[in-house]
Amino acid sequence: MKRPIAYIAGTGYAVPRRAVTNDDLAKNGLDTNDAWIRDRTGIGQRYVSDPDETLTHLSAAASRIAMADAGVSAGEIDVIVLGTATPDHLLPATAVEVQAALGAGRAMAFDLGAACSGWLYSAQVAEGLIATGMAKTVLVIGAEVLSTIVDWTDRNTCVLFGDGAGATIIRSVKTLPKGDTRERGILSSYGRSDGNLYDLLWRPAGGVAEPFSDKVYEERRQYVRMEGREVFKHAVRSMADATDRALDMAKLTPADIDLVIPHQANMRIIEATAKHAGIDMSRFFVNVERFGNTSAASIPIALADARSQGLVPEGTLVLFAAFGAGFTWGSLIVRF
Ligand code: UT7
Repeated sequence: MKRPIAYIAGTGYAVPRRAVTNDDLAKNGLDTNDAWIRDRTGIGQRYVSDPDETLTHLSAAASRIAMADAGVSAGEIDVIVLGTATPDHLLPATAVEVQAALGAGRAMAFDLGAACSGWLYSAQVAEGLIATGMAKTVLVIGAEVLSTIVDWTDRNTCVLFGDGAGATIIRSVKTLPKGDTRERGILSSYGRSDGNLYDLLWRPAGGVAEPFSDKVYEERRQYVRMEGREVFKHAVRSMADATDRALDMAKLTPADIDLVIPHQANMRIIEATAKHAGIDMSRFFVNVERFGNTSAASIPIALADARSQGLVPEGTLVLFAAFGAGFTWGSLIVRF
């Protein structure tokens, strides 16, 4: 097993004030019902931002909690990486607005686009920056305000997603006391992408290739479109690859893993991942019922939620696995 270079020193999350239940969606005229959504996805409600609850606002709120948890001040942060598909502005990156909100004056700040794998890829970038000695303390955020880019008239997609932010402080591993063999930190890290699958889950218009226009608005091409069944198939396949590879790279077996924190997209995808990995569902942390799929925010929200429930005591071995639009996927194994 490789010697860890970086560890997760603090976590936090923030969600909008307003929870929207499945019944609320049906009451507001969408042709859907609580039973269908629960049965196909496991989702019961999601949080939806009001205009003052911007990506910067949610990200900064989650970050302050993670910083307090890690005992890190704003001035100690070397880098801020924000995984998101829903920046507040097209230019500049939202990470710089978060930097300003936190007063993290020394930090280099940038956004990372990897859809639902956004936090996981960002954590891998943090580990790399720490390994080169460029950074000691990195604020890694996954955050989304997906409610602004989903088509609220499309029942195939809008019921799935939610807003929120999760933050983690990733720091370089301190020299351990002699004889301490319980090394904490990132033990293995795996990531892949397949751009041939880019239009299975995408926003066709609003970028440079197809700028906003009357036609775009008429055809609602500024909103997320998804081939649900195809995404499902690729998700199951990539989550299986992600779990296998992370275990191989860390020279661990499924029996070694205390807790799996998967991307919270859908209960059925999580169950298929558990079956493939041979890890009982009782060792999977799932909170998709309360938050829906918050894309890049889902894993760091789940981690902060699990820690607040006392489920990640010191020494816990956690496997994280994510997949998302792109297609992107990857995994991390971390000893807390
Ligand atoms: O981070 C990645 C995010 N994406 C995902 O995780 C999505 C992966 N895909 C899935 O989880 C599933 O494909 C869905 C949950 C999106 C859909 O489930 P499905 O079993 O693949 O359903 P389907 O799309 O084949 O649709 C079955 C039926 C259709 O009706 P007809 O044509 O059979 O009459 C849909 O129109 O269900 C209908 N339907 C709905 N009914 C009630 C689709 N959405 C809804 C809805 N409420 N919200």
